[in-house]
Amino acid sequence: MRNSYQTIPAVITKISPQTDNIKLFRFEFEKKSFKISGDDFIFRPGQFLILSLPGWGEAPFAPCNRLGEELELCVRSVGRLTRKLHSLKIGDKVGLRGPYGNGWPLNDLSQIANSKSSEKKNLLIIVGGLGLIPLRTLILGKKEFLGKDAKIQIFYGAKHPSEMLFSSEYKDWRKNGVDLQLTIDASCPEWRGCVGLVTKLFDAAKVVENARAFVCGPPVMYKSVIEKLKEKKFEEEDIYLSFERRMHCGIGVCQHCGVGNFYTCKHGPVFEYGLIKNTLGAI
Ligand SMILES: Cc1cc2nc3c(=O)[nH]c(=O)nc-3n(C[C@H](O)[C@H](O)[C@H](O)COP(=O)(O)OP(=O)(O)OC[C@H]3O[C@@H](n4cnc5c(N)ncnc54)[C@H](O)[C@@H]3O)c2cc1C
Ligand code: FES
Repeated sequence: MRNSYQTIPAVITKISPQTDNIKLFRFEFEKKSFKISGDDFIFRPGQFLILSLPGWGEAPFAPCNRLGEELELCVRSVGRLTRKLHSLKIGDKVGLRGPYGNGWPLNDLSQIANSKSSEKKNLLIIVGGLGLIPLRTLILGKKEFLGKDAKIQIFYGAKHPSEMLFSSEYKDWRKNGVDLQLTIDASCPEWRGCVGLVTKLFDAAKVVENARAFVCGPPVMYKSVIEKLKEKKFEEEDIYLSFERRMHCGIGVCQHCGVGNFYTCKHGPVFEYGLIKNTLGAI
């Protein structure tokens, strides 16, 4: 078994700019004996990895696609490590360890989707800003993760159209049956769609029925999204929230990421709303 802290050298194989300060990086492991598809590294949507650059530090990122023996991370340049990462080129190396955390509760969903049960098998995804990143693997692998009959509806809010992530893929997502609803914070000449916070989409679109809700975005968004979900009669046990807290170890040792009695890295980052709703500082 691999040591939990063991960092695996990985090579950048592709870099695609997404916005002014966000890039999509593709990696493969340097040594072919480590398999991204293998038992020792396979990740579930919603889990995270820790990326390190010696001399620059390490930080958590949510993998957002798996392509055979390659994986993708979408990273915003905000500080020391991420600025250095953005300066790297194809062929440069980083260290990766993980995957960590629980991820979205999908086993349950795919079993329901493949049965004739009338339980909730559809998915309403509500995301803001970078919150779309930990859901992209799931959106791209809709059939694999949810079964072919499940519906996905996405409510996605960004500040400006130029800040919408993965926008070149939206056409394919829609072709694949995803109901993608978009909004931007303030109007601008090049945008003809909905304007307002992501909660506005609850009124602008018919909400998918028989669904669970996965929520990810800036902390300020959570309270108002939960209110809307309750208005739409979502039960507490059908609402899941992904939390982003400052992390170091990623495995429940350093206590940096505590929320009440929980460690976000170990017990999360995804929490059932009913479990966390009374925890001070959670929402
Ligand atoms: C589970 C998880 C998954 C994440 N996934 C992604 C991802 O897919 N893509 C992505 O771009 N980022 C993601 N992040 C955030 C990312 O880890 C931070 O942006 C990163 O640590 C910045 O490192 P840095 O050295 O460049 O910045 P630093 O120099 O450490 O910090 C720069 C600025 O960002 C602030 N900051 C850094 N981390 C956080 C944080 N977690 N919460 C609030 N403020 C913070 C600092 O206070 C400072 O103001 C994720 C975080 C978590 C916990
Ligand atoms: S990051 Fe160390 S306990 Fe969570």
